[in-house]
Amino acid sequence: MIKNSDRAVVRGLKDVAAAETRISYVDFNGFLYYLGYNIDDLVGRVTYAEVAYLLIHKRLPTQLELDKFRVDLVSSMKLPEPVIDSIVSAPKHCHPMDVLRTEVSHLAEYDPEDNDYSEPANMRRATRLIAQIPTIVVTIYRSRLNQLIPEPKKEYGFAQNFLYMFKDAVPDDNERNVLHRYMTLHADHGFNASTFAARVTASTNSDMYSAVTSALGTLKGPLHGGASEKVMEMLDDINLEEEVEEYISGLLDDQKKIMGFGHRVYRAQDPRTKHLRGMVEDLCHRDRTLGLYNKCIKIEEIVYNRKKIYPNVDFYAAVAMDALGVPKEFFTLFFASSRISGWVSHVIEQYEDAVLLRPDSKYVGDFNRQFVPIEKR
Ligand code: SDX
Repeated sequence: MIKNSDRAVVRGLKDVAAAETRISYVDFNGFLYYLGYNIDDLVGRVTYAEVAYLLIHKRLPTQLELDKFRVDLVSSMKLPEPVIDSIVSAPKHCHPMDVLRTEVSHLAEYDPEDNDYSEPANMRRATRLIAQIPTIVVTIYRSRLNQLIPEPKKEYGFAQNFLYMFKDAVPDDNERNVLHRYMTLHADHGFNASTFAARVTASTNSDMYSAVTSALGTLKGPLHGGASEKVMEMLDDINLEEEVEEYISGLLDDQKKIMGFGHRVYRAQDPRTKHLRGMVEDLCHRDRTLGLYNKCIKIEEIVYNRKKIYPNVDFYAAVAMDALGVPKEFFTLFFASSRISGWVSHVIEQYEDAVLLRPDSKYVGDFNRQFVPIEKR
């Protein structure tokens, strides 16, 4: 054992590998792999259901397996009635991430295989969570509009049902493709903070719902998945393209962080950005909102010139979600609706790794303080 005073603290656990994983690899040179597949080879060529299958089953599905998985997902989208009632009665003013976090925890009380923590049961639980999180998101949104929650359509795919139920309108091909690409790009990303939180929880042999609840609380933070909502707030705040220079330089002069920029690992462009930027350019052409796209490009230039940092996944994801008609306070819930497939695959891998994640710390407080009884204090 190393003496406490000799302990070397690695602030923020930067560049510390906490465990081995086979699920995804984030290369600081700007590459991302899911189970060995370069993300560039997957985006636009697979559906989100294929990616979710890949993450939990460790291989891409055959057509037959994918068809069955899709049926499993769509048939698992239904929520227990008490969970629906709880969502509908939740305060309408609170952040929707608070309701999502609460109701994932609530789902545990209605788990049909409670007390069965075998690997097959956890795989079924993982599939249910992948299916149910988007339904919770839809239920929160539609209940706030005092509208009924449409039933999923058997003939639709999983992601298509998600968008159909959220908007109560049939998504067109372009919208469907955008959502598949968005969800493919958000599905997993190494030991990001929310995934690590899920793994720490799973490392105590706690259940999958507890691990996902930990992840949701972590994802909400604006330094992590909560950034995309802040990006949209910033873009809404900059009315004209001509104002970008002054607005962004002002933030940087005040040592403020620009939301949607920078990354703990990447020292080159985040490989997801080029895909999201391309989607946003197409969407802005479609919607005749090229001014918004030009604002984004200008922000990229200014931040790179000043800080030599690049946009991360949250920057253009915000504009893509906005173009799909998702309100900004729901952006992180869409992020979670995809990242759930990464979280549950890491939880299962952590159960297999079977080791408690418990780091040490360097104590720099006092020693041997003299105790004084309360009557004498
Ligand atoms: C996600 O980990 C993952 O993989 C996460 C994620 C995933 O898929 O799961 O990729 C998703 O969470 C993306 C990140 C979303 N968050 C934001 O966009 C918030 C803004 N970004 C920053 O807060 C920051 O870049 C972090 C939190 C993402 C990373 O922080 P680090 O690694 O602790 O870096 P740092 O804060 O120590 O900054 C290093 C330098 C500093 O400059 P100096 O003080 O050394 O001169 O870079 C600067 C920082 O000031 N910097 C920024 C900046 N990010 C870093 N300056 C301005 N704006 C920024 N956004």
